[in-house]
Amino acid sequence: MERSREMAVKGKLVVIGQGYVGLPLSMRAVEVGYTVIGFDLDKSRVDQLASGTTYIEDVSSSQIKSALETDRFIPSFDPSDIDGFDFCVITVPTPLRDGLPDLSYITSASSMIGPRIKKGSSVILESTTYPGTTSELVLPELERLSNLVAGVDFFLGYSPERIDPGNPKFNFVNTPKLVSGINKASLEVISNFYKDLVDETVELKSPAEAEMAKLLENTFRHVNVALVNELAVFANELGIDVWEAIRGAASKPFGFMPFFPGPGVGGHCLPIDPSYLSWKVKLQLGENFRFVELANDINHHMPQFVSRRVMLGLNERGKAVKGSNIVLVGLAYKPNTSDARESPGVSVAASLIELGARVIALDPLVRKEDVNLPLEWKDFSKEIIKEADVVVILSPHRDFDLDEIVKSASYILDTRHVLKGDNIEYL
Ligand SMILES: NC(=O)c1ccc[n+]([C@@H]2O[C@H](COP(=O)([O-])OP(=O)(O)OC[C@H]3O[C@@H](n4cnc5c(N)ncnc54)[C@H](O)[C@@H]3O)[C@@H](O)[C@H]2O)c1
Repeated sequence: MERSREMAVKGKLVVIGQGYVGLPLSMRAVEVGYTVIGFDLDKSRVDQLASGTTYIEDVSSSQIKSALETDRFIPSFDPSDIDGFDFCVITVPTPLRDGLPDLSYITSASSMIGPRIKKGSSVILESTTYPGTTSELVLPELERLSNLVAGVDFFLGYSPERIDPGNPKFNFVNTPKLVSGINKASLEVISNFYKDLVDETVELKSPAEAEMAKLLENTFRHVNVALVNELAVFANELGIDVWEAIRGAASKPFGFMPFFPGPGVGGHCLPIDPSYLSWKVKLQLGENFRFVELANDINHHMPQFVSRRVMLGLNERGKAVKGSNIVLVGLAYKPNTSDARESPGVSVAASLIELGARVIALDPLVRKEDVNLPLEWKDFSKEIIKEADVVVILSPHRDFDLDEIVKSASYILDTRHVLKGDNIEYL
């Protein structure tokens, strides 16, 4: 009884894809009163959700259990559970395949949803993708399979996800959400849907602008990270402390925003999203998006720079990389996440292994099976740090005892500038 009453109030939401983006959205929607089908093709993920177990750091197992207890969170891999939805949000992966956008997950999700659309329902794409995807790819597929007219019989729009896994300050609810619709009616319905879920929504005039806004955000970051990374390489050769220079520049209260060097970029966004934009520009205009290409090139070479710095540092201490004990602290692509996709730390590890080092990885968050390298995975201990010829700080998760690392290590290469001491070199 209770369940049907609440369903009538908020309706049925299907979230296609229960990953870093889809699962937090599902949890929030249950919280505000929707009945949520947490749909994923990966049966093992669905089983974990059904047993109240999390697999991403931003959602706890107790949150999942609480959602299950409402009887309004239904993890599923059975497409028939989608039938009769009021809202459907697509949060499936958009990777690159051979350097080109792979839209197959979006098209297969659209094919599954299409025949199940009823009059008055809404479909929203959240996956990051090139401008035009919602109107040029998703819309015709949904219309063809539903025999309904988008914008009239059902509503369609795009709302990019900005979630930053591991960020303690900004989450799904307090990060403003961009919303768009293929027409005025769609925008209104979709905007109202998100107003219920987040603190603030920002309406854009069409899906193409919302799609581009997301790519602009990530390209902006990608390019600026590349700028300071290239500066770090040159500053090192010039004998100038790039971190001090950035600290100085950042004191300017206008016209400057600090970005910091690091071992490279990783995860699901920066190494991938800007290429969706440059692909679209090339396809439609025949032009090269030079900023993206340059940033890709610079950021891609950073792990090699890190391993070269390790080599030079060991050399100065009369040691060769071959046979040295090298401890890598954090293999995830950034601190406080388990995500090792495209991680520059993994590239650093691969190049040091190739040079003959004994590479020991410390990372309690990353799943070993996600990193296909002959590494020695160890738990953090003073002894391991003491025995290391060099400790390389890559992704310093908040649970690492950084003071102990400074005390026990003979030589540290800190790629993130988080430590202080006489035994430390910076990027
Ligand atoms: N991870 C982030 O920080 C982040 C932030 C903003 C935007 N995004 C974007 O959001 C999208 C999803 O990213 P993610 O990190 O959540 O990916 P993810 O790999 O964590 O999750 C995607 C899920 O979708 C499932 N899936 C794939 N095809 C499916 C289908 N046809 N039907 C049902 N489930 C399917 C997969 O099994 C997986 O569980 C991508 O476009 C990504 O670029 C990611």
